[in-house]
Formats: sequence, C-alpha cells, structure tokens
Amino acid sequence: MAANRTLTIIKPDAFAANNAGNILALLEKKGFKLIASRVMKLSQAQAGEFYAVHAGRPFYGELVEFMTSGYCMPMVLEKADAVLALRDAIGATDPAEAAEGTVRKLYAESKGKNAIHASDSDENAARESRFFFAETDLIR
Ligand code: CMP
Repeated sequence: MAANRTLTIIKPDAFAANNAGNILALLEKKGFKLIASRVMKLSQAQAGEFYAVHAGRPFYGELVEFMTSGYCMPMVLEKADAVLALRDAIGATDPAEAAEGTVRKLYAESKGKNAIHASDSDENAARESRFFFAETDLIR
C-alpha cells in the first residue's frame, strides 16, 4: 500500500452508539478520502490474529473480547502522510489524554473502549488493509 493510505476501524462501542457516520464525517472534513469500507463482526480468531502483536499484554484478553462484542467498521482512508495524519486526528489511546477535536476526545469512553483504531506504521497499514480487504475492494 502507498504511504498515503492507512487502515482504521470504527470499534464496537462507537458503531453501537451510531457514531460511525459522525466519525467518518469528521475525518472527511480533515481531508481523508474513503477508499474502502465494510461492516462486520470479528470472530475471536480474527481479533486474536489482528492484535497478535499485543498477545501477552495484560489487556489482550479484554481487547479481543471487546473487539468481538459487536459490529465494527474497517475502512481504508487516503490522505498525504496518512498514518501520521490519522493518528493525529484520532488522538491519544486514552481519551482523557486526547486533544480537543480528536475522534477519541469526542467519542471514546476509556483506554479500552476507545472508539477507533488506526495503523501505527506504513508497514502495518498495508498488512492491516490486506487483513480486511482484497486489492479489488480498493478504489484505484
Ligand atoms: P488500538 O489503536 O486499537 O491498538 C491497541 C489497543 O489496545 C488500543 O487501541 C487500546 O484499545 C487497547 N489498549 C491499549 N492499552 C490498553 C489498556 N491499558 N487497557 C485496555 N486496552 C488497552
């Protein structure tokens, strides 16, 4: 994936609260273009694999349980320097530390139930995009 694309997931807390549209609108206002999206419920195996890098961390079980607790919305977004731009737009992992106007400041309730995921590197953005989408699902 080019460095101007990244992967995000509107998590089960934000999706269940009907905030998927609000979050996408906020990101579109910040200049992100929607390249692919789907709505799905992750299986335990899928969530475990997606967050395998966190296996062994104390919050891993809670994270997998939460991510499988309801529907979520993976999306590929495009903007110049997408990974950094999206991490800036979503704010700190803990909403109490997130800057004003960020997705997590507006829509997250805790470090665990924090509304949105964003890839942390170009390499992970490419891997995470392939996790949810085929090349043919992406706008070219
Ligand atoms: P995310 O960007 O999806 O990537 C890893 C996730 O682990 C992170 O967002 C948080 O939701 C979760 N996480 C990180 N630290 C904690 C924690 N201390 N307690 C619960 N969940 C956490």
